Amino acid sequence: MKRIGILTSGGDAPGMNAAVRAVTRTAISHGLEVFGIRYGFAGLVAGDFFQLTAEDVDHTINVGGTILYSARFPEMAEEEVQQRAVEQLKDHGIDAVIVIGGDGSYHGALALARHGINSIGLPGTIDNDIPFTDYTIGFDTACETAMDAIDKIRDTASSHHRVFVVSVMGRECGDIAMRAGVASGADAIVTPERPFDIKEIAENLKRSFANGKDHGIIVLAEGAMDAEEFKNELLKYGDFDARANVLAHMQRGGRPTVEDRVNATKMGNYAVKLLLDGKSALAVGMTRGELSEHNILDLFDGKHKGDYALLDLNKDMTN
Ligand code: F6P
Repeated sequence: MKRIGILTSGGDAPGMNAAVRAVTRTAISHGLEVFGIRYGFAGLVAGDFFQLTAEDVDHTINVGGTILYSARFPEMAEEEVQQRAVEQLKDHGIDAVIVIGGDGSYHGALALARHGINSIGLPGTIDNDIPFTDYTIGFDTACETAMDAIDKIRDTASSHHRVFVVSVMGRECGDIAMRAGVASGADAIVTPERPFDIKEIAENLKRSFANGKDHGIIVLAEGAMDAEEFKNELLKYGDFDARANVLAHMQRGGRPTVEDRVNATKMGNYAVKLLLDGKSALAVGMTRGELSEHNILDLFDGKHKGDYALLDLNKDMTN
């Protein structure tokens, strides 16, 4: 192996640049050449490659987004498209690829591995929804961003004695809602993975207001319910002055936290070492702070386990 490629795919996540930097620097220090592939698998198929030097990744560890750009590219599921991708890699003399992205990106990485290109996947998504890992690159920054926004919303909620339903990202996963919710002292946290009772939430809020509380915050994962619908449903059970607030893509940007920078650096370094050992079709994970690797194929049958104890913890804080 002499030359490796690296791409970022799917929704961007803060810390992706730290991972790109770690891959680039580790590979170069082991005598490899590194090619950046722009726009994820779309750029791979189009041959949008450029050589990455150690200097190219200077001043990127602290920057959100991805210097490689990203794209969603469902066409990568087609056999003919996969073959074009492999031809591009062969034409550029690239023997192996590191893919940073969410669950969709792992399908592309596995397809490359099946066509003889050694591939390693790194979990890059703010959602934290990948099986066999406690942590995905960008999750910590997204939680910080959401917490910060909720703190600000609480100020105005309190001034006006309002209830805010704050929608955070997480299509099928309530991890951002649970962590940002506990950290911001939410009155209720609603996730797609657990049943919820809007009437009960309304009754608890009424009791809190009756006891002198001057605001209410409900942190809602976007995958559980639409924020406006949730607010309207809530109003059926109580005469609240309520607002819905959708945080959306602001959670995907911003300076990565220490945790995201350090973990992304560890994972990028580890991915290159796996390739140097001749490994392929593996997904890097982190469990209780320890790096691990798993067959990508197993990921498709696995299910991410969130820290659902946070929901019980939050109930104990609010009753
Ligand atoms: O990357 C994950 C994610 O941010 C989800 O939380 C969200 O539902 C989705 O991407 C939004 O995707 P897009 O940016 O394509 O609208």
